[in-house]
Amino acid sequence: MEKNKLDIYDLKVEYRKNPLGIDNLNPRISWKLKGNERGIKQSAYKIQVALDENFSNIVWDTSFVKSEQSVHVKYDGPELKSKTRYYYRVQIKDQKGSKSDWSNTAYWEMGLVNKNEWEAEWITSDYKNQNEKLQSCPIFRKDFTVNDNIKKARIYISSFGLYELSLNGKRVGDYYFTPGWTTYDQRLQYQTYDVTDLLKEGDNALGVILGDGWYKGDLMWNDKRGFYGDQTAVIMQLHIIYQDGRKELLKTDQSWKSTAGPIIMSDIYQGEIYDAREEISGWNQPAFNAEDWSEVKILDQDKEILLAQENEAVKKIEKIKPEKIFTTPAGETVIDMGQNMVGWIHFKVEGKAGDKVILKHAEVLDQDDNFYTGNLRGAEQKIEYILKGDGQESFEPHFTFQGFRYIKLEVYPGEVDLSDFTGVVLHSDMERTGEFSCSNSMINQLFENIIWGQKGNFLDIPTDCPQRDERLGWTGDAQVFVQTASYNMNTALFFTKWLRDLKCEQIDNGSIPAVIPDPEVNISAEERIIPVEIEHTSAAWGDAAVIVPWTIYLTYGDEQILKEQYESMKAYIEYIRNQGENEYLWNTGFHFGDWLALDSKENSYKGATSDDFVATAYYAYSTSLFLKIAEILGYKEDVREYSDLLKKIKENFRKEFVTPNGRLSEPTQTAHVLALYFDLVKEENRKRIIDTLAEYVDQRDGHLTTGFVGTPYLCHALSSNGYPELAYKLLEREEYPSWLYPVTKGATTIWEHWDSIKEDGSFWPDAMNSFNHYAYGAIGDWLYQVVGGINTNEEEPGFKKIIIDPKPGGSLKSARVRHESMYGKIISEWKLIDNRMKMEIEVPPNTTAVVILPDALVDTVRENDILLKNNTHNIEGIYNYKDIDEGVELEVGSGKYCFDFKLDTPA
Ligand code: BGC
Repeated sequence: MEKNKLDIYDLKVEYRKNPLGIDNLNPRISWKLKGNERGIKQSAYKIQVALDENFSNIVWDTSFVKSEQSVHVKYDGPELKSKTRYYYRVQIKDQKGSKSDWSNTAYWEMGLVNKNEWEAEWITSDYKNQNEKLQSCPIFRKDFTVNDNIKKARIYISSFGLYELSLNGKRVGDYYFTPGWTTYDQRLQYQTYDVTDLLKEGDNALGVILGDGWYKGDLMWNDKRGFYGDQTAVIMQLHIIYQDGRKELLKTDQSWKSTAGPIIMSDIYQGEIYDAREEISGWNQPAFNAEDWSEVKILDQDKEILLAQENEAVKKIEKIKPEKIFTTPAGETVIDMGQNMVGWIHFKVEGKAGDKVILKHAEVLDQDDNFYTGNLRGAEQKIEYILKGDGQESFEPHFTFQGFRYIKLEVYPGEVDLSDFTGVVLHSDMERTGEFSCSNSMINQLFENIIWGQKGNFLDIPTDCPQRDERLGWTGDAQVFVQTASYNMNTALFFTKWLRDLKCEQIDNGSIPAVIPDPEVNISAEERIIPVEIEHTSAAWGDAAVIVPWTIYLTYGDEQILKEQYESMKAYIEYIRNQGENEYLWNTGFHFGDWLALDSKENSYKGATSDDFVATAYYAYSTSLFLKIAEILGYKEDVREYSDLLKKIKENFRKEFVTPNGRLSEPTQTAHVLALYFDLVKEENRKRIIDTLAEYVDQRDGHLTTGFVGTPYLCHALSSNGYPELAYKLLEREEYPSWLYPVTKGATTIWEHWDSIKEDGSFWPDAMNSFNHYAYGAIGDWLYQVVGGINTNEEEPGFKKIIIDPKPGGSLKSARVRHESMYGKIISEWKLIDNRMKMEIEVPPNTTAVVILPDALVDTVRENDILLKNNTHNIEGIYNYKDIDEGVELEVGSGKYCFDFKLDTPA
């Protein structure tokens, strides 16, 4: 790159590159800057939006706007039109006033913006009246002809149940599990596909397969089906525009035909049965005779609920090859993928018509190394394929996913060739934005396990686990993991969609269902599987309503999410306020408590910290976040009201849980962690509480005892209150209980329990023992923020101002973290060499960073060999420095820096 040249790249609209089919009328535009000077800042931007790629038909031109804003700039031009593509480009001026070139051109395309544009009918299959195979997935087809010279063609489609769409025999798009999982009766996504190249002059045919999915299939753990409805259905419109401007619309209506397809059964938990002998050759191609197919039935269903896809769709993200095949002591033939993964197996097979392949999926082998499915409870995770018998056949499921590391070949014709099996990993296609590595390979494996926990459980919604008959959007788990998740991958859209469902399902009294989407949203209290008293109360679960949007705001600087969720957060806090007799304590109702903590009583999942303590602490915490949000959004009256509320909650908390001499009434680690991290105690009492926590961890218990509630903040509470070494001791501990204990047992994902596999090799009871549960993976944010040292700051969120503050410790000799922020790449890397430290950092353009060189002796600090002291005017990008207790603090602009310094207290 030429010196002084400034480039603009990574143009996105609503977090996406060139999205098709959005229905946001004021989409937000973001871009990144690249240059090889240090200290790059934007001083002005100009955006042009046009109807054509040459920008001759401009609809919005901002001219130069004096502003540093380069993320989430709202489109504010004339009203955007349905189905229309808008091209945009950006130009900026830097801090010196030099102009960049125009960026490359990017675009977005509007979907069906107006609900009344849905002219298609909801159609459902009526073949079941004539066909006995009641379970099988219906298929639909429609013939049509197209004149030549098509300019563009789009399909907008949605369904009750999951759909797979094909055009002239080819699968359309690379999305899976469409239309996704939302509060179906109120919010149903449609997807948009560009099918211009799939159409051909003359005869064409559309085909659709419908699976039960979350809509109609098994959900929860009571063998119950059909939570949302018992009839799958599809709605679709194909809009064709010819070169000469003529338009044509093809839509689902009475003229479609339907019959049973070869998928005999498909279910998220149970798996799939596919009879290849039942395949109907040419069914989704032109020139096919569908005379004996059934008429479809028109469903009188709402179209108002349709909205454009909100998050990144689920896709096939990676493929993995199996590690080995072996025979277990029980004589089972088992394939080991080497990784606990989520998705499915693609396989090739040869045999006679009617031969079968039956695959079962499991996460672990038992103590005797046999295949083990006990912990899957009611989820069969079984794939059955019946061969048609004409040479090599291949198969992968359509509407189901499995959580597994091992595959048992229950039935398989002929010799097994391992190369015929491939693991296909599917999850929401979020951008990977974070990496961590350090000199301890066990911690690196822990980090990989955290990533795999996210891959496995971010399949359209944040689930607790991806394998047993649960796979639900437990709010507590999501809240605990959201910060780590948002470092790892860009989760903004993923959680925006989920929060909209949360808001939608929030109960009138302000409480939040414990799982979102709640399959039982419309089920009467008497018939519910999760009783209402449990479903609508728990602290630390409901608080997802506040903590998740706050985290998205901090990570991506996204103020809109705060606005969108504001009333929902407020209602949640008011809900708490209305509980019990004292409005400043939360001491009533059911709570999950410090779930799975090690200080729980025999036969209980709940830790020793009392419900009242956990609930009141969270009440204060959520109120404190809400107060900050009210300040950010400028709601002055709420600021007044909720400051007062927070003050009183804290006073009541202290009266209730802090003794006059400043001791906490609850002698648990979690109680101390919450009191510290949520800032609930008086300054003069902090020291005692910190010391007590350290004493518990180090002496009394000798290890962590925390559950879902205390664990995420445990290391933070220690390291930011003078005990970083103790936090490192916990992190690096390999004996049970610890983060690394599962790693010593060969874990490739995060377990639900600290000892899902016990030291003697036995398991926790099957009733609740997942090997892919991300909650304890929340240690990830401590790795990013404290070990690696990358932090955002509340005043300039979204990493507009970055705090790089690594705290080396434990046995670590080096660490490196990367986070791809909205502004670009942030890197912090450090190495200890004898009594010196080397620190390399990268700060993206248009941001600044406060950098702490830990324990540095100010006189020895060099940046690329230039002495820092009294010399900042000679070092580009460094604005100033300070000698502080923790080391040396610098203020820097964008660029790459390489520091070298002597440590004040060498190891
Ligand atoms: C889930 C948890 C969830 C919990 C509620 C379990 O079955 O797997 O992760 O948060 O229920 O306490």
